[in-house]
Amino acid sequence: MSRKLFVTTALPYANGNFHIGHIMEYIQADIWVRLQRMLGHEVNFVGADDTHGAPIMIAAEKAGKTPQQFVADIAAGRKPYLDGFHIAFDNWSSTDSPENHQLAKAIYLDLKAAGLISSKVIEQFFDPEKAMFLPDRFIKGECPKCGTKDQYGDNCESCGAVYAPTDLRNPYSTLSGAKPVLKSSEHFFFKLSDPRCVAFLEEWTQDGRLQPEVANKVKEWFTVRTNPDGSTSEGLGDWDISRDAPYFGIEIPDAPGKYFYVWLDAPVGYLASLKNLLDQRGQDFDAYMTDPQLEQYHFIGKDIVTFHTLFWPAMLKFSGRKTPDKIFVHGFLTVNNGEKMSKSRGTGLDPLKYLGLGMNPEWLRYYLAAKLSGRNEDIDFNADDFMARVNSDLVGKYVNIASRAAGFLAKRFGGKLGDISGDGDALLEHLRDASVNLAELLAEREYGKALREIMLLADRVNEYVDQNKPWELAKQEGMDSHLHDVCTVCIEAFRLLTIYLKPVLPALAAQVEAFLQVGPLQWSDAAKALGAGHTIGAYQHLMQRVDVKQLEALFEPPAPVGSAPTATESVAPGGEELAPTIGIDDFAKIDLRIAQIVNCEAVEGSTKLLRLTLDVGEGKTRNVFSGIASAYQPEDLVGKLTVMVANLAPRKMKFGVSEGMVLAASHGDEKVQPGIYVLNPWPGAQPGMRVR
Ligand code: 2FM
Ligand code: ZN
Repeated sequence: MSRKLFVTTALPYANGNFHIGHIMEYIQADIWVRLQRMLGHEVNFVGADDTHGAPIMIAAEKAGKTPQQFVADIAAGRKPYLDGFHIAFDNWSSTDSPENHQLAKAIYLDLKAAGLISSKVIEQFFDPEKAMFLPDRFIKGECPKCGTKDQYGDNCESCGAVYAPTDLRNPYSTLSGAKPVLKSSEHFFFKLSDPRCVAFLEEWTQDGRLQPEVANKVKEWFTVRTNPDGSTSEGLGDWDISRDAPYFGIEIPDAPGKYFYVWLDAPVGYLASLKNLLDQRGQDFDAYMTDPQLEQYHFIGKDIVTFHTLFWPAMLKFSGRKTPDKIFVHGFLTVNNGEKMSKSRGTGLDPLKYLGLGMNPEWLRYYLAAKLSGRNEDIDFNADDFMARVNSDLVGKYVNIASRAAGFLAKRFGGKLGDISGDGDALLEHLRDASVNLAELLAEREYGKALREIMLLADRVNEYVDQNKPWELAKQEGMDSHLHDVCTVCIEAFRLLTIYLKPVLPALAAQVEAFLQVGPLQWSDAAKALGAGHTIGAYQHLMQRVDVKQLEALFEPPAPVGSAPTATESVAPGGEELAPTIGIDDFAKIDLRIAQIVNCEAVEGSTKLLRLTLDVGEGKTRNVFSGIASAYQPEDLVGKLTVMVANLAPRKMKFGVSEGMVLAASHGDEKVQPGIYVLNPWPGAQPGMRVR
């Protein structure tokens, strides 16, 4: 029976670009969603930016922007990451959307009506210069225990003491440097200590819906909790859900100057993004959410378990709404033997740099999947291991199967599949039998186990090829039908393996579908076969191996800004002398504009050129030929922003008229340093903006 699933990933703070940890979570969820769809289930998979809170408000102020503009600029930079790694959210919204304002208020009012909101006057540090209450992370001072200077308001990095911000000696505001004063203000609380909430959560968190290790951790919180000063109290405490103006957030109904704490409205953003999607489709959100068939799943990291296993389910339950069916918690990702990720030391894995180096996104999807399990445990990205797994498993074992058979089928049998006999039949039967177990493993998020099973199947197929030696059959007289049989088995086996890998490798699967000349593969297609007489298309190489140079470049620390050339470095930067000096008027003649690459395709008859369709905000598009085919696949560029010379006279070329020029960097001597790098503006730039 077809199931109805609502799936989310944690909403990222809109104060920076995605890092590899975000991408890992999205890939984990995306694989799961793709599997469910292949199984015939209906899924809505949504995300959004988590926009509110003091840190974002302060970051916006520092950047000289309104918070709204600041988060919009961050949002504008999301697409290259999501498209780049084939992460197919059905919708991406924002917690500052009208839907979220409305839903957060409605949930709050329902909780209030249920008698679960209380208020209390509390004392907090206030920055008299900025005229605002200070979140703990914006207060520093001397550790009350060991006296170390410049310690944060919650614990000391030097002696490890835990305390409340009010315990700090000589506290100061990190925003203004001013000495904070204690000031009292009324706050609203969600009464998590209410016996109704406690009883509900004790049951909800322990009924088997959470991973066992997560349920055990949560259980401890029902008996003891740690207070801000390090002391402990019994049971669940009430949750402070309000903040005073100035605050970037959602105003609390009937409480002027009071806003919801960001964590109150953040998970509501899941519902808001879904509502936004359903509204666009003309579907009824309330009817969707109250359908008893609906299943709700949240993928999150282990650092935000409290919010998703206590506050969020209780908010939903006592506002009369559906609670999540499961919370899928994953661990953290470390890079290269657990070295703490750090940009300056160059040990981090920058997702956009990865894509920019032309590294295949599906290598990363495959590698991360191979490391992931259904448990909440940390995983490590190791460069050597990455290269070995991709090259030997993915390319060496799986992709290789198609290349071993396709040539003979094309040359000798017009691309037509033949009949399959005993041996091959048994092998294919074995591959088909794996389908149920593999779907189960993937559904349990045991991706690593599933991929190991799939690679064992690929081993079996390669053994079959080695035993039957099609390359020798091809040379022998009278062996045509045996050769045809063996190649047909290979293609059919390759099709089955592609079905199993498709949730992990969607783009590769699409290439295989085109090659096999079949429609989009579903899981149930594993029970079928293509059959004799089916014609497949021409084989084109499906996947490159990882080159160690790419990994070296990926982890090469960025050169420090402004570093002086060493004696051995050329004085001709980038391999060529600077051009003669020009005045600003000369420069102003060149009209450079931000352009969006709305389409990009290969040019038949040219190995050098790509044909780009550019949107420069003119209400029409431009056709531009660019000599970058050696560096980019057309699909790498679609959707990206770049810079073009917009007032260059149109030029008639062999393949058509080029209406401008795209800017790209390259070394003066491509033999010294090959590579072409198309310019890509900082997130937030819009098509049509002038570059000056
Ligand atoms: O920890 C974080 O990055 C939060 N922005 C996650 C929010 S998840 C959901 F509740 F919105
Ligand atoms: Zn200390």
